[in-house]
Amino acid sequence: MTRTYDTLLSRMGTGLQGSAIRQMGIMAAGRADLISFAPGYPDPEVFAWEAYRAIADDLLSRQSPSTLQYSPTRGLPSLIEAIVPLAQAQDIRCGPDDVLITTGSQQGIDLLARVLLDPGDVVLVELPTFTGAIAAFRSAHARLVGVRQDGDGVDVEHFRSVVARERSAGRRLKFCYLVPNFQNPSGTLMSSARRHALLQAAIELDVLLVEDDPYGDLFFDADVAAHDVRPIKAADATGQVVYLRSTSKTFAPGFRTAWLIGPAPIVARLDVAKQSADLCSSGLDQSIVREAIQRGVVTSRLPMLRDRYRQRRDVMLTALRASASSLFSPETPRGGFFVWGALRNGTDAQALVAQALAAGVVYVPGAPFFVDGTGTSYLRLAYSSAPLDRIAEGVSRLAAVMQAAEAASTP
Ligand SMILES: Cc1ncc(COP(=O)(O)O)c(C=O)c1O
Repeated sequence: MTRTYDTLLSRMGTGLQGSAIRQMGIMAAGRADLISFAPGYPDPEVFAWEAYRAIADDLLSRQSPSTLQYSPTRGLPSLIEAIVPLAQAQDIRCGPDDVLITTGSQQGIDLLARVLLDPGDVVLVELPTFTGAIAAFRSAHARLVGVRQDGDGVDVEHFRSVVARERSAGRRLKFCYLVPNFQNPSGTLMSSARRHALLQAAIELDVLLVEDDPYGDLFFDADVAAHDVRPIKAADATGQVVYLRSTSKTFAPGFRTAWLIGPAPIVARLDVAKQSADLCSSGLDQSIVREAIQRGVVTSRLPMLRDRYRQRRDVMLTALRASASSLFSPETPRGGFFVWGALRNGTDAQALVAQALAAGVVYVPGAPFFVDGTGTSYLRLAYSSAPLDRIAEGVSRLAAVMQAAEAASTP
C-alpha cells in the first residue's frame, strides 16, 4: 500500500489546494495540437533575448561577486537604487527603506500573508480576484470576503458596507487586496475616480490596501494613458498602501524579480520573513534586471509590447464575435492579458472543460477566482501566449463546444 504521510501534514499542508490555472496547464502539457488560453504567460517571442544574453555575458565576464554571491535579503542595493527613480516616475514617493525585492510578486503576497495574518483575520478581495493571492491568504487561514466590482473597478459603497459588517461582527480586518490595472482575471481597469474614492474610504476606515500591479505598463487603446494606470500608491501620503510591481509580464517571468513598496515598518518585518523563505532572491536575476532597467531595454520596447498584445486581443475578440457572440460576449479589455466573461444562460464553464480539451482547446473556468462560491458561468481566456496564428482556430474550437452545450441544454 502506498503511504500517504497524511498524519505528518500540518494544518496548512492538509488544506493546500493546487491552482486551477496550473491544473489546466498540466492537463494541456504534452497534448499535441492543443491550443491553450489557460496560463497568463507573456509571449516568449517578445522577450528581449539578445539584450539579456549580452547583459548576462557582460555580468559574468566582469566576475563581480554580487552577481553570483548571496545578496542582502532586502535585495541588491544597486537594483533598489534603480527602482526608486522608476517608482518616482509613477509619482510614488519612496526611498530605499520602503523597498523590498521579492522572488516574484507572488512571494510579496505570500510574505504579506505570513507577516500580517492570523487565522480568522479578514482579508477583503475583489470578486473575482487573482487565484495566487487567494491561495496565499487561504494558507494563512484568513477569512476571505469578496467586494463587488463593476466595469470601473471596486464598488466603494460595497467596500464600506463590508468593512462595517465584518467589524461589527467583531472580526479583525487586516487589509484589502486589489489589482486596479487590467485585473487578473477580469481585465478591469479601475477608474481614477474609484481609485480616489477607495483611498479616501481606506483612510477613513483605516484599512490597509495591498495594490498588486503587474500589468500597468501594458495598456493598448489610444484612450488609455499613463495617468489612467497611475497607482493608488501615488496618492498615498499616509502609509495606507503597500504596492507590488513585477517584471514578469514585461521583462520575463524567468527572472522572478519583483518589488514591494510600503511603509518602512511593514517592509522591515517582511524582510525578516523573507530571510526564512529564501535568504535572498537570485543575485544573477536581480543583476540582469538592474542592467536591463539601466540600459532602458524594456522601456524602449513598451510601445512594441503594447502593440503586440493589442493585436492578440483583437484577433481573439474578432474571432469570438464571428463565432460565439450569441453564447459568450465578454467586455473588451483595454490592457493586460485576459478576455473574461460569462457564458449565456448560466452554463457552467467547469462542466465544459472536458469537452474543450477533447476539442483541442483549454481555458480557465471562473469559479476559482471568486471567494464567495459564485462565478461558475465565467471563463478566462488568455490571449497573451498562444501562437498568434492559432488564436482564431482555438476560438473556433471553443465556440463549437459552447454551441454543442447550448444545443444539448435546449429542449
Ligand atoms: C495579479 C497578479 N499578481 C501576481 C502575479 C504573480 O507574478 P510574479 O510572476 O511576479 O510572481 C500574477 C501572475 O500571473 C498576477 O496575475
